[in-house]
Amino acid sequence: MSSDAHKYVDNAINAFTLIKRLSTDFERLKTVASEPTEFVWDREMIYATEEDLIGATMAISRLQSVYKLNTTHLAEGNLQGVIGFPMTANDCYELALILYKQEDPNISRQAAEWFEAALEKLNNEQNENTFTAIEVMTYIVKSYHRSNINLDIKAYAWAEKLLALKPNDRTDYVTNFYKYAVTRNNTNSTEVASWNKYSALCRGETDVPAASSSKLHCWYLRNIPFLKLAPIKMEEVHKDPNVFIFYDVLSDDEFQNIKTIAGPKLERARIVGDIYAEYRIGKSAWLYNNIDVVAKLRQRTADFTGLNISHAEPLQVLNYGIGGHYIWHYDAFDSGQFNKEDGNRIATVLFYMSDVSQGGATVFAQLNLTVTPKKGSAIFWNNLHPTGEIDKKTLHAACPVLYGSKWVSNIWIHEFGHELLQPCSAI
Ligand code: OGA
Ligand code: FE2
Repeated sequence: MSSDAHKYVDNAINAFTLIKRLSTDFERLKTVASEPTEFVWDREMIYATEEDLIGATMAISRLQSVYKLNTTHLAEGNLQGVIGFPMTANDCYELALILYKQEDPNISRQAAEWFEAALEKLNNEQNENTFTAIEVMTYIVKSYHRSNINLDIKAYAWAEKLLALKPNDRTDYVTNFYKYAVTRNNTNSTEVASWNKYSALCRGETDVPAASSSKLHCWYLRNIPFLKLAPIKMEEVHKDPNVFIFYDVLSDDEFQNIKTIAGPKLERARIVGDIYAEYRIGKSAWLYNNIDVVAKLRQRTADFTGLNISHAEPLQVLNYGIGGHYIWHYDAFDSGQFNKEDGNRIATVLFYMSDVSQGGATVFAQLNLTVTPKKGSAIFWNNLHPTGEIDKKTLHAACPVLYGSKWVSNIWIHEFGHELLQPCSAI
């Protein structure tokens, strides 16, 4: 893709409308074109699938909940002040319908708001559409009614409008709506708290007590021979567990090189057990030591962390597009899930290979810590207690990318080779 094209799809709304044009609109075109016409489409043409469209919709929904984005602004193509193309009534309607079909009370409010946007545009547009205002209004009532937060006032107000338009046509739904008391499942409060923490940290709403942050240090590492010439700036961002940021440990040339090599190998990232999960959306590839730039980077990692990398994993390269994220997890494995020859993941080194225009921070739930990706830097933390058990305070996540694309790579260092460092301290 050209860089202009990249810029275009860097905006979630542009990406959605593009995917929509390439999937549903194209499907419609095909049905029309199955009649003998002048139009011949290329059967080999790559077009987006229904699944891609659902993926793009869920990405927008995630971005809305994490970053509190206003539906009306988004419908105008305005993503936090970055202006893209306005959506049509049909775009908003299809987005709303996909959200609605998830039957998820957590996103019903968003569905309702997108139906409202569709209705607003429907009233102002000249285009012929395949749906009517009455249909949209019915969906609005149902969506507000289904929401897990009490939005019945809105549901009733829309039901009244609907009845005013069709006084003699009380559809079953509206009648039932008045007849039955609302029953809502109790939302799981731990889940809500965990989601609230995630979204607050992703928005940068951290409240680290001044007393604890003032004890942190920043210094230049020079004690290793290779660092004498070019000391590395190192910042301590947390104690217990130790979290450090190392600056300028990866050059532009190096990460360009890594991106080029990793590009064709990227596949949808999996989680433990080799499976796909909604809570991890991104692409990953493994690069091995036989690649010069990887070997150099691993050696540099050994130098600046002072750790033994002979049992470290290969370099994992990750690319997150808009909405790409990785919800709360530990990098270390539970006992029995790692091989005894290498031991568990004692430490994580995460290289930031791009700045991210908006979103995409790495956040730590228990540490109240938000780290914004800075191209060329690396974040380091210890995953284990000196006893070898997982340090539960290392629970962390990658926030959804709001604008742009995020590239990182990981080197996971394993226990083996560090026996002498135990049990006093892991670093
Ligand atoms: C991971 C991870 C954080 C990030 O890949 O395990 O936690 O910011 N990544 O990408
Ligand atoms: Fe992680």
